Amino acid sequence: MKDLTPKKSELAPIEIASRDEISALQLERMKWSVRHAYDNVPMYRKRFDEHGVHPDDLKSLKDLAKFPFTVKTDLRDNYPFGLFAVPREQIMRLHASSGTTGKATVVGYTKKDIDIFADMVARSLRAAGVRPGEMVHNAYGYGLFTGGLGAHYGIERLGATVVPVSGGMTARQVTLINDFKPEAIMVTPSYMLNILEQFHKEGLDPRASSLQVGIFGAEPWTNAMRQEIEQAFDMHAVDIYGLSEIMGPGVASECVETKDGLHIWEDHFYPEIINPETGEPVEDGEMGELVFTTLTKEGMPMIRYRTRDLSRLLPGTARSMRRMEKITGRTDDMIILRGVNVFPTQIEEQILAIKELSAHFQIELYRSGRMDAMRVHVEATRDAADDASREVAAKTLAKSIKDLVGVSADVVVGSPDTIARSQGKAIRVVDNRPAER
Ligand code: DLL
Repeated sequence: MKDLTPKKSELAPIEIASRDEISALQLERMKWSVRHAYDNVPMYRKRFDEHGVHPDDLKSLKDLAKFPFTVKTDLRDNYPFGLFAVPREQIMRLHASSGTTGKATVVGYTKKDIDIFADMVARSLRAAGVRPGEMVHNAYGYGLFTGGLGAHYGIERLGATVVPVSGGMTARQVTLINDFKPEAIMVTPSYMLNILEQFHKEGLDPRASSLQVGIFGAEPWTNAMRQEIEQAFDMHAVDIYGLSEIMGPGVASECVETKDGLHIWEDHFYPEIINPETGEPVEDGEMGELVFTTLTKEGMPMIRYRTRDLSRLLPGTARSMRRMEKITGRTDDMIILRGVNVFPTQIEEQILAIKELSAHFQIELYRSGRMDAMRVHVEATRDAADDASREVAAKTLAKSIKDLVGVSADVVVGSPDTIARSQGKAIRVVDNRPAER
């Protein structure tokens, strides 16, 4: 793999500013943001008043903890435009979540917000080692999802060439990668596995492709998956994080030279970690739920938005801004089996440690008598698809899940190509338990 480390001169000064400078900027911007929300969004005004807090109470960064949280249902309750802080005419773009349950959540951006969005994605790409003039294959879905267009404008902002492929049509993805020879790819990690499979189906060597770095996000993935992808393509794999409510991709991103968690672009997004049960902030280094406050967003400011993503905050390394550890999972995806908390990422790690198994998997929850139970569906690799090898692999996986994750699971090792392939965000958990819970 080529060394892609950016030079110091390629970074924005704020990325390597002192902590004092960063904190001072954050406080100034936070005061503006909290005031902007209070003055222009009825929900914030009502809620701050009910809580007995006022924007004037924010005198230090720590004072933010006095303010109430914002949650996903607040967006649904104020559907579609109730949380906008500017007249609708000043909103330049809308995005929305697919809304599998209930109403979609809608987010809006002013011209300045879109501009900062592009800057943050460009900064993330630079951290990944992408440079102006290079080509980026963008396979995040275009449309209401923030991934496709968010990445697109960032690639252009960096001064790179964007290939706006969007998701799907996997054979065409491979053709375009081979013909256009991009240096970088942006796509969900689970969809990258489909692309990998397509290389193999066509008898092509992925290690011979032009790709030097992949910028993967929009869903949880493990360091084991990183190694799998890096090995398969002989390229770097870095993590990019974000969520529509806060902006989209580019809230935090990993640096290619360290790959040690994601630097949060703290000049625009203020992170906190809270205990998800009590709502109390915890110290840096402790695990909990990630909460973000936007510092510069005009269209739809978010004050203490609970992401439901679990991580912890760590000091800066390659940049002065703090890092968040790779996301363990969403609180929504946490499976509780006989008192033990399990995340799909823990199962992914165990699967990838067994070379007879491919990285495609799904977890089924079902009821066995009065107890909840878990079945892991996974595939054998082509070289280990005979009955005997599959049986051994199933036993090995069940044992490692028991020993290392701490729960009993049935394991079904199917033939290659039997598990539904991800087209974007992979569906890791299928809940077949009866509804009356
Ligand atoms: O997924 C934004 C995005 C697009 C990020 C492309 C990165 C790349 P939403 O659809 O609103 O936005 O989903 C946000 O996805 O709260 C996390 O649960 C999850 N997520 C996003 N990035 C990561 C990541 C986009 N790197 C939700 N690791 C978030 C783990 C991630 N989970």
